[in-house]
Amino acid sequence: MKIAIASNHGGFELKELLKAHLSERDIDYEDFGTTAAMVSVDYPNYAQKVANAILTEAVDCGILICGTGIGMSIAANRNKGIRAAVVGDVFSAKATKEHNNANIICLDQRVTGDGLAQMIVDAWLDATFQGKRHQNRIDMIEN
Ligand code: RB5
Repeated sequence: MKIAIASNHGGFELKELLKAHLSERDIDYEDFGTTAAMVSVDYPNYAQKVANAILTEAVDCGILICGTGIGMSIAANRNKGIRAAVVGDVFSAKATKEHNNANIICLDQRVTGDGLAQMIVDAWLDATFQGKRHQNRIDMIEN
């Protein structure tokens, strides 16, 4: 499995922490930026980089981080085939893989603590899409 990860300036520190967490878990990732917390950048550019990586099948799924996770999710979800979920708790992280087959998880550096953010990523990565009626509902969204 390979993961695309990106943030704006408001999510840079959490991105770096999650990269270390992915490495500890021996999970391959590609960092699409940004490269500094002190330089203001536009989150839609980073959401699009990760969406493109998924849609071209260069990676399997993605992690996007901004201050709230909201701007990233709004931007990424403009792409057909992208299901980006803003998640702030472990239950929802598991459910959004099992039910929504979310292929991007969006995190909020200014809201969620580091330890919880790592648990959220783990819960999402370790869950399995349940298909069946959930696939029908995803098909409804896509169509
Ligand atoms: C950047 O200041 C902030 O708007 C961004 O990180 C994010 O919260 C947007 O949704």
